[in-house]
Amino acid sequence: MSKSFRVFVTCDIGEEALNVLRDRRYQVEVYPGPQAPPKKLILEKLRSGVDGLITTLRDQIDAEVFEAGKGTLKVVSQIAVGFDNINRADANRYKVPFTHTPDVLTEATSEFAFFILAALARKLWDAEHLVRENRWDYWHPYLPFLGDEVTGKTMAVIGTGRIGQAIIKKCTGFDMHILCYDPVFQNTKFVDAIQEIKDLRYKHGLYQERMTIKYVTLEDALRQADYVSIHVPLIRPGESDTPTLHLFNERLLRMMKPTAYLVNTSRGPVVDEAALAKALRERWIAGAALDVFEQEPLPADSPLRDPAIADRCRLFPHFASAGKITRLSADPNRGMAGRCVQGLIDVLEKNYGGDYTKMPWVVNKEAFNRAA
Ligand code: GLV
Repeated sequence: MSKSFRVFVTCDIGEEALNVLRDRRYQVEVYPGPQAPPKKLILEKLRSGVDGLITTLRDQIDAEVFEAGKGTLKVVSQIAVGFDNINRADANRYKVPFTHTPDVLTEATSEFAFFILAALARKLWDAEHLVRENRWDYWHPYLPFLGDEVTGKTMAVIGTGRIGQAIIKKCTGFDMHILCYDPVFQNTKFVDAIQEIKDLRYKHGLYQERMTIKYVTLEDALRQADYVSIHVPLIRPGESDTPTLHLFNERLLRMMKPTAYLVNTSRGPVVDEAALAKALRERWIAGAALDVFEQEPLPADSPLRDPAIADRCRLFPHFASAGKITRLSADPNRGMAGRCVQGLIDVLEKNYGGDYTKMPWVVNKEAFNRAA
């Protein structure tokens, strides 16, 4: 390799992946703190002439950043699948490709969504507290509380991209009916394949009843489901014809059954939190399990922390992809860290003949489409 590239990394992505860069004689500087670096520092680093910037979902990457890197910054490589923190229009204007880490976190994220759904419905948190606080005084058929089963119930999957499809596979193993909704694309081939599997299981006597999967309208999904799991990206108005900001507002929450549960592992702002807190307080729905929030970390005064709804509101620290291999493996086919550094290397070392449109993890290919 002829040139020693300089890379600034806004969060520690693990020694194994960083060493992939160091072994290629890259000069790598990692922000040492666990919190996000101040934007001012990112700007300073860029002005000092780094070639590559490794970021994550808590860094705001916009025109100011691209301007600071003008002339030297060649790539922004994000360790996350979601990239709503990166202003795509600004990246395109400055002609800087940015990459993300899809696929490698699909299974970890979808299994976590299923686990928190189950923890919520079967009251695992309340049950463990009972034991830990020495309040477990008897075995009783229904006291002090009961949970809701998952098996045989109806799950609505809102967004049937990679992670939505993965949770559908898991729900199929749990003998659930599935209602699908996607604002952009209906993957009927996938849905047909799942129906075939369900039919096969029924034929062999593995299901008591014939289980189904189908695409429906958002309204039908919400009205009929026992569980609703959100898997759409955050899209702000103006970014596309199908914005998802506050998609789950008061109107939609009121459509859900009072016995239904909501799970969000996508992005916090897809749900209007004030409306959700009201829905939980007034019991329009039975509960919610949330891994993502409008503001992260969750502010101390968030209405979601209201002790009055603590029995029906499970809160997690944006943790869905937080499996050891998923987060840190340096193998680009297994770990976010590996895929993140490989995306960076592809751009800096001009893999794929230097054609960004052919690089698998470059997001903003439209900025480099020669026909455009
Ligand atoms: C996590 O939320 C991600 O987008 O990877």
